[in-house]
Amino acid sequence: MMMEALAVSMVLLIGITINATRAGDLVDYTPHLTSEEMEGKITASTFALQQPRCVFNKVVDPADVIWLVVALSEAVKSFKNPKTPGDLPYQSFAKNYFYMTLNTTVSNYPCPEKSDDIAILRVGSETECVVDLWRPDCNGPLPGPGPYRVRFLAINSTGVVVKESKWSDPITLIRGRNPDRIVAKPRRRRTETNVIITILSILSAILVAALIAAFIYKYSNICDKPMSADFVGIQDPTIVRYTTHQMHDRLSIK
Ligand SMILES: *[C@@H]1O[C@H](CO)[C@@H](O)[C@H](O)[C@H]1NC(C)=O
Ligand SMILES: *[C@@H]1O[C@H](CO)[C@@H](O)[C@H](O)[C@H]1NC(C)=O
Repeated sequence: MMMEALAVSMVLLIGITINATRAGDLVDYTPHLTSEEMEGKITASTFALQQPRCVFNKVVDPADVIWLVVALSEAVKSFKNPKTPGDLPYQSFAKNYFYMTLNTTVSNYPCPEKSDDIAILRVGSETECVVDLWRPDCNGPLPGPGPYRVRFLAINSTGVVVKESKWSDPITLIRGRNPDRIVAKPRRRRTETNVIITILSILSAILVAALIAAFIYKYSNICDKPMSADFVGIQDPTIVRYTTHQMHDRLSIK
């Protein structure tokens, strides 16, 4: 009896210890977009995270390296810590749905956090290393709108993940390549429409003028032959009268 009770409590104790270690790996921190008031917090291929300051400083060794895992949101459930960060290179993101980047020692996220410091991490800001297989840690542009989720990992010099943050909320990027062009497009379309409208109105004005001219020409031709006097008379009776008078006068003089 004694031995059995001892064995059961041993198993329980081991179980609790294992659970405690697992729970201890997770630090209670959720990565999030910067709280800084700034333009371009999210663009078509980048987003600005708040640096994880005062998060790992007290719980990891100063030599440990903090990495950022970028995940395609829907793949997060299948994430397993890699043996080495190089197993999840930026260049294979399309295949793995995860990559690891922005590695830096914990000392670069100093504590306490000074309030006047701009503590931003721009994810997706490097363009030179996009196809460079020697730069698996490339912080290359994000290939689409996502949504993405990120988490920080603290990895010690033996490559063991000693601490990890929670996953961020999903972050969705702006659609389209260049946000400036999205604004510029409707403007250009409006000018195009204006040009078309102007051309159309000029053309229709010309058409109307041509029709009027043709009408007048035709009408005057028809009237000229048998009733030219009447036509002139209708237009300006005084002149007609004067002319007739003159004619009469001339005739009478003759
Ligand atoms: C980040 O990781 C890359 C690739 O493993 C390495 O070459 C680079 O030295 C590391 N940088 C820092 C600051 O740890
Ligand atoms: C890294 O962490 C593991 C697990 O905590 C530990 O066994 C190992 O000794 C650590 N390596 C170093 C260099 O501290």
